[in-house]
Amino acid sequence: MIETLQNQKLAAWIHDMVELLEPARVHLCDGSEVEYQTLCQEMVKEGTFIHLNEAMRPNSFLARSNPKDVARMEHRTFICSKKEEDVGPTNNWCEPKEMETELRRLFKGAMHGRTLYVIPFSMGPLGSEISHIGIELTDSPYVVCNMRIMTRMGGDVLDILGEEGEFIPSLHSVGAPLKVGEKREPWPCDPENTHVVHFPERREIWSYGSGYGGNALLGKKCFALRIASVMARDEGWLAEHMLIVGVTNPEGKKKYFAAAFPSACGKTNLAMLQSTLPGWKIECIGDDIAWMKIGRDGRLYAINPEAGFFGVAPGTSNDSNPNAMASCSQNSIFTNVALSPEGDVWWEGMTKEKPPHLTDWLGSPWTPDSPKTAAHPNARFTAPAAQCPVIDPAWEDPAGVPISAILFGGRRGTTIPLVYEAFDWDHGTFLGCSVSSETTAAATGELGKLRHDPFAMLPFCGYNMGDYFAHWLSMTKRTSPEKLPRIYSVNWFRKSPDGKFLWPGFGENVRVLKWIFERTEGEQNGEKSPIGILPKPRALDFTGLSLTDEQKQALFAIDREAWKKEASEMEDYLSQFGAHLPEGIKAQLSQLKERLG
Ligand code: GTP
Ligand code: SPV
Ligand code: MN
Repeated sequence: MIETLQNQKLAAWIHDMVELLEPARVHLCDGSEVEYQTLCQEMVKEGTFIHLNEAMRPNSFLARSNPKDVARMEHRTFICSKKEEDVGPTNNWCEPKEMETELRRLFKGAMHGRTLYVIPFSMGPLGSEISHIGIELTDSPYVVCNMRIMTRMGGDVLDILGEEGEFIPSLHSVGAPLKVGEKREPWPCDPENTHVVHFPERREIWSYGSGYGGNALLGKKCFALRIASVMARDEGWLAEHMLIVGVTNPEGKKKYFAAAFPSACGKTNLAMLQSTLPGWKIECIGDDIAWMKIGRDGRLYAINPEAGFFGVAPGTSNDSNPNAMASCSQNSIFTNVALSPEGDVWWEGMTKEKPPHLTDWLGSPWTPDSPKTAAHPNARFTAPAAQCPVIDPAWEDPAGVPISAILFGGRRGTTIPLVYEAFDWDHGTFLGCSVSSETTAAATGELGKLRHDPFAMLPFCGYNMGDYFAHWLSMTKRTSPEKLPRIYSVNWFRKSPDGKFLWPGFGENVRVLKWIFERTEGEQNGEKSPIGILPKPRALDFTGLSLTDEQKQALFAIDREAWKKEASEMEDYLSQFGAHLPEGIKAQLSQLKERLG
């Protein structure tokens, strides 16, 4: 099999890895429907997959993970550049040789008794100039099936790779070698030894011990963000944790926006929002990652390198996000959601009434009286993007779509207004630096703790975050600044003193997109404030919403004392970047402090 590979570098790498991993057999994935079905049936037999009710959820499966393997593990994620300084203070570093020795020890014989699957995949449309190829080696058929939905996968990718093509070697093992005769577990993993490791100079990924999400589907966070951010720095483009949407106004004019929110803070929801304003239409290019490059006309163009959604299930309903519900109505994989007696899925927030009887994500009987949630808070659906009813006609355009506005947001109960605009690109870059958010279940660790998450890239930047800020600032040198998108801060999560969300959110967020759209058209609907440009009174369309005047004011209130605290806290945070903190960011901070008085 390996002998037939045209690409010598690939053949040699697989040869070496087979020697290290000692799998029982090697399977080169062709990405076909037959292969997918065969793997699904095998996983049903082994208890990894439960085949859902064909009449209710055609061609769909439920997987329950090991309860110790339910989310990204940031403390076990490493960037191993040659110099520690190059990863900066926000990443875990380990000397590359030392890490490689440790990894070789972990990976030695790691695939005993298992099949090594070779997954050729393309991030971005096949054969497009902006796409990049990866090869994932994994012993998890669950990963193979998810990668088939999330990426363009299979034999065509090898044809494009040809004899000389470059690829990102992405090695993955669940870390559970089988002894002769040993019974297979439904979700093998090795949580105590999990390592998600990136070698930015060699552009390699080695991930051991976890089968879940971004730890295991290596095209996503490991490649399309951590490795790609390094490539983007070197080549002058941007690899970002951003959704991309098309926004069409009632006159039929269309613009594209990109938005960075931290994990589980609303990207998928905004990406396929169902507009509540008549005449306004939202279409989806992507819900998690954007690769953006300056086009020949000097504007910034974005593509979605993925082919599917790995979306948060809890909170997703026909009310909050009907387009996500339709996307996962068939041909989908569900992980850690609850199972209904009829053989369909359920999760918290899917229906107003909780079903009387379920099997929870751990496989135990569940009723509404149960003290625990039926689905894990980071339960997810894996669904083909092409199934989204509002997928944009240009979503696979290799040229990408021109971006008119970039939004930054987080989960902030206080201080940050619903929306405001940056004065210019440098100030916008500062807004990206300033993102902070309450932690969510997307990563292991404490929940609801406020932390800085610059550009929503804290867990995903493959190099020194200070240098990343400088890279953003450098965009004004790469094109004329007026051609760059305008930049905004948004916050759907501000609360009233009684702890309730002030803003209805979800479909109503289109009102904020409308104001931004009008701003980019040059409308004089904003007014300067110390923090940026706020909507003029009545410029934000509140028609049909039952908000009191106090609530409207509270959404935009600027508490100077809170902002002064915010600025000084920001100063402390940024100081850790030392000599890597760009002068341009320091200048923005002192200007903010001056404006606040
Ligand atoms: P990742 O896939 O982890 O990167 O997350 P994401 O940014 O795509 O988040 P997603 O859209 O899946 O939303 C996560 C959670 O936030 C869900 O439980 C949503 O119900 C909730 N959420 C999304 N948008 C809003 C909103 O406008 N208001 C409120 N209150 N909650 C929201
Ligand atoms: C995130 O955590 O931002 C995700 C889920 O999109 S994962 O693919 O697990 O990274
Ligand atoms: Mn994400």
